[in-house]
Amino acid sequence: KKKLLIDVDCGTDDAQAIMMAISAPNVKIMGITCVGGNTSLDNVCKNVLRVLKVCDRSDIPVYKGASKSILGDSIHASYFHGVDGLGDVPDPNAPGLEGIQKEHAVDAIRRLISKNPGEIALVATGPLTNLALAVKMDPTISGKLKCLYIMGGNMESRGNTTACGEFNFLADPEGAYIVCNEFLCKTYIATWEFACRHKLSWEWYDNWVNSGTKKADFIKKIYAHSLQYSRSEKEVKGMVTGPGFVSCDSYAMAAAIDESTVKDVIECAVTVETGGRFARGMMVLDMIDDLKKEHKALVMNKVDMEKFERLMKDSVK
Ligand code: BDR
Repeated sequence: KKKLLIDVDCGTDDAQAIMMAISAPNVKIMGITCVGGNTSLDNVCKNVLRVLKVCDRSDIPVYKGASKSILGDSIHASYFHGVDGLGDVPDPNAPGLEGIQKEHAVDAIRRLISKNPGEIALVATGPLTNLALAVKMDPTISGKLKCLYIMGGNMESRGNTTACGEFNFLADPEGAYIVCNEFLCKTYIATWEFACRHKLSWEWYDNWVNSGTKKADFIKKIYAHSLQYSRSEKEVKGMVTGPGFVSCDSYAMAAAIDESTVKDVIECAVTVETGGRFARGMMVLDMIDDLKKEHKALVMNKVDMEKFERLMKDSVK
């Protein structure tokens, strides 16, 4: 089985991505590490435990990591994911924080990768703070990782939080910079524009969430809050293409589960703008080898939608 380690700031699409990994028969989830982002770190931890409970997989270890960016500030995406990160749907039986492991997420990332050299693929769907801290504490983990899959950044300078800032990279530009420059393993990046170009139709979405399973009901409930934006006239800020449903984090997860879902990539060096007046947090694609960086990332450009839809469907079965 493929060993996956998942780092999340569990909002709605992170929840969806976790469910996708759980439903994949070829995947063993080694752990889920939490980082502040879409919502506060405590909420992120609770959300992950809640998702695992819905999937009857509370055996998967969950670790608490960084609450704020490397520089110490934080932004949340409550307007979209709800204040609690999962659409503010009351759940009296939601687990508390008791289920969280004692070990810090950054230590867990380092330990798991070091103990399984060449075997672990890491999927990161939130701000990259935990990963940046882990590689700074132990630079050798970069060479021991099988592959890294990131949802974040942009490929055409287009943001969803600021003009040029995609949420995950903008939430911790230094963290993103460190990861893009110090993780030298094979790295796939699913950017904001890429995700928007691979939307699912609302008709598809309706069939999916109304398929009648416990997991589909859960997805339907937690997405209801964000749909008031994504499905209405008030389009989500920075949406790149026309109407449709987009679960950004699920594209990075789909690639990790089945690399053949990725049909085309742009292979180039990438970095992140950490200064700038207008473009802090923007991912930079170096198409002219200006940075003289040997390490090239695989910026995802096209998805096999049939395969992707299958993985999405399986995740709510
Ligand atoms: C990313 O930002 C978050 O709000 C989503 O969970 C996704 O990871 C999209 O820009």
